[in-house]
Amino acid sequence: MTKPALLAIAAYGCGVAPVSHPAPAPEAAQFAADGKLQPPADYRHWTFLTSGLGMTYGPLAAAPGSAPNFDSVFVDPRSYDRFVATGAWREGAIFVVEVRASEHTGSIVHGGNYQRDATGFEVAVKDTQRFAKGWGYFSFDTSLATPAAVHPPTDACYDCHGKNAAVENTFTQFYPTLFAVAKAKHTVRADFVGIPPSTGDLVAAILAHDDLTALLERTAATWPEAGIVREPALNAVGYQLLAAHHGDEALALFREITQRFPDSANAWDSLGETLEAAHQLDAAREATQRGLAVVKPEQAAIAASLNARAARLAP
Ligand code: HEC
Repeated sequence: MTKPALLAIAAYGCGVAPVSHPAPAPEAAQFAADGKLQPPADYRHWTFLTSGLGMTYGPLAAAPGSAPNFDSVFVDPRSYDRFVATGAWREGAIFVVEVRASEHTGSIVHGGNYQRDATGFEVAVKDTQRFAKGWGYFSFDTSLATPAAVHPPTDACYDCHGKNAAVENTFTQFYPTLFAVAKAKHTVRADFVGIPPSTGDLVAAILAHDDLTALLERTAATWPEAGIVREPALNAVGYQLLAAHHGDEALALFREITQRFPDSANAWDSLGETLEAAHQLDAAREATQRGLAVVKPEQAAIAASLNARAARLAP
């Protein structure tokens, strides 16, 4: 045990107040006498939940043709702790969305975006006593200096959050760590439309021996552009399984990829490579030939890999 801890215990033991700390920063909604919400000036000390790019709506959306805005979501730390323990938001939970413009040039940036000036703040408070709909929505300008009146219940905030958010009124489906908590605690709304499985979800389903083809079919039918129904993501999952010594599962996935993308030389090359490593040489030879039949002139590296394997495995 360290010395300061011993000292603290000694201080409690003889009824003396422990070393005093500065007053804790307010971590809950503070209302003025007229019912307006005080600006949440210290939100940068709160718990970070997510950043969205181009996910800002209404007046805070980026102007058409300009770079997308970032939004970063923060919640007061006590509410965060409670959510992690229960999957639900406590009374008084307060959320801040900080919206910032983005820029795609400067310093070393090529092809990415970084955050610039704040363009506004949106705030939500859960308070079932104070607000008829249980939640109150507020907007603050970038000075964060003036208290804000609650948006009337007819504003779009209530409708969009009330209909589309996964947990109570919050878009927890976009908060990756908290969405996992909500799923584990069964607090996701029954009518939530869902988001596509992530690559991590796919790995879990494969290791649980779920029906892989059915899962991918279902995902592709609802979200044709989802990451896990595209070849690069599936291929990466295959190599992830191989690295984790799940050879049989990787092989099944690489087979599935060639079924879904029969014109992909890369898919056949990955299958051939895995079959060769598993000493299934006839099947490896066949997969390699299938790859050579579809490889395109510009795919020099894949062609070289296929040709080298074909030469190695030549009867
Ligand atoms: C068209 C739908 C839509 C409308 C309208 C909308 N929001 Fe949101 N809001 C979102 C989405 C989506 C997120 C999640 C952002 C992310 O993941 O980056 C969000 C997140 C938030 C959050 C973070 C906590 C949470 O609920 O997840 C607050 C606070 C918030 N919005 C306030 C407002 C306010 C205030 C208004 C009205 C002025 C408003 N929103 C209008 C879609 C909407």
